[in-house]
Amino acid sequence: MKLGIVGSGVIVQEFLTITHHLKETELTAICYTERSRETGRELADRYHIKQEFTDYEEFLNSGADTVYVALPNHLHFSFAKKALEAGKHVIVEKPFTPTYKEAVLLSELAREKGLFLLEAITTLHFPNYKKIKEMLPALGDIKIVQCNYSQYSRRYDSFKKGQVLPAFDPCCCGGALMDINIYNIHYVVGLFGRPKRVEYFPNVEKGIDTSGILELDYGTFQCICVGAKDCKAPIANNIQGDKGCLYQDTPVNVCKSFQVFLNDGTSSFVNENSYEHRMVDEFIEFESMISRKDLETCYQLLDHTLTVCEVQNIARNKAGIVFPANA
Ligand SMILES: NC(=O)c1ccc[n+]([C@@H]2O[C@H](COP(=O)([O-])OP(=O)(O)OC[C@H]3O[C@@H](n4cnc5c(N)ncnc54)[C@H](OP(=O)(O)O)[C@@H]3O)[C@@H](O)[C@H]2O)c1
Repeated sequence: MKLGIVGSGVIVQEFLTITHHLKETELTAICYTERSRETGRELADRYHIKQEFTDYEEFLNSGADTVYVALPNHLHFSFAKKALEAGKHVIVEKPFTPTYKEAVLLSELAREKGLFLLEAITTLHFPNYKKIKEMLPALGDIKIVQCNYSQYSRRYDSFKKGQVLPAFDPCCCGGALMDINIYNIHYVVGLFGRPKRVEYFPNVEKGIDTSGILELDYGTFQCICVGAKDCKAPIANNIQGDKGCLYQDTPVNVCKSFQVFLNDGTSSFVNENSYEHRMVDEFIEFESMISRKDLETCYQLLDHTLTVCEVQNIARNKAGIVFPANA
């Protein structure tokens, strides 16, 4: 793919370190803000990105066939929409869009135009995650699922001092559900599909959830997802069935090794991931999907993204967390 990148922040800088793994990707352009000109120029130089822009329309008229939207959450929808309208394939950072309605609009536009539209969510693309799916039947009937992704954020220190960065800013569609618990939602929905009922119990400060507990009722079993940026705990994901339990002690967006303990006393340790950096598998799948013109797989992933957006949107609505842009 001929990839154009919008943004020059933390995730772009991380992504660029893995681009040597992408044998079918050419970095054709980067679009950054005037205020980040120095950083943008430095990234373009270091990673041999051919063209630089501060104007998004001009960037869209450049030679990229795919646009990677790596901007604060509230900009995902408008930037992705413009790129699709310009006939580009689009990779959107997580969380896809703040509202389900926006996600549906983008999805319809991509399908109408026969374009790729992908959410950059690492979880779904790990060999370990695919193995978890494969091993689920061994656990018997699922009874309880628990995912705890609690990571104290340095940005929370700034937040308490009055400096509200995008990850905690309602105007940027931030918060613990959008920033961190969204990973748990992807993990659970990817394994079990759409829950029957969704409830969210957040800790709210200055109008934003700094942590919270999401309850997903699957009818035949219950699931709890904890996402916190204001406190920490050992990471733990447990999928408990009547024949055994699957335990993982790394965040779901990293999805390293896991263990399966069966009630017959046997256990196994599994690790099928081969790359150290979490972004390699997803981007290798994206470039391969685009070069194979495999829209079917893309739209299956997009259906999954839509379900995740619906779940997070229901959760926020029920908890009364409304972003000013969507009020
Ligand atoms: N997949 C993952 O593991 C992962 C990890 C972290 C973040 N993310 C996601 O990635 C997205 C970005 O997060 P981040 O941590 O990289 O945030 P960040 O460090 O704040 O970077 C955001 C970037 O967007 C730029 N930007 C803002 N408005 C722009 C515009 N109109 N045109 C071009 N660039 C613009 C910012 O430039 P200025 O600084 O000049 O405003 C900055 O370079 C978020 O949606 C986040 O959820 C994903």
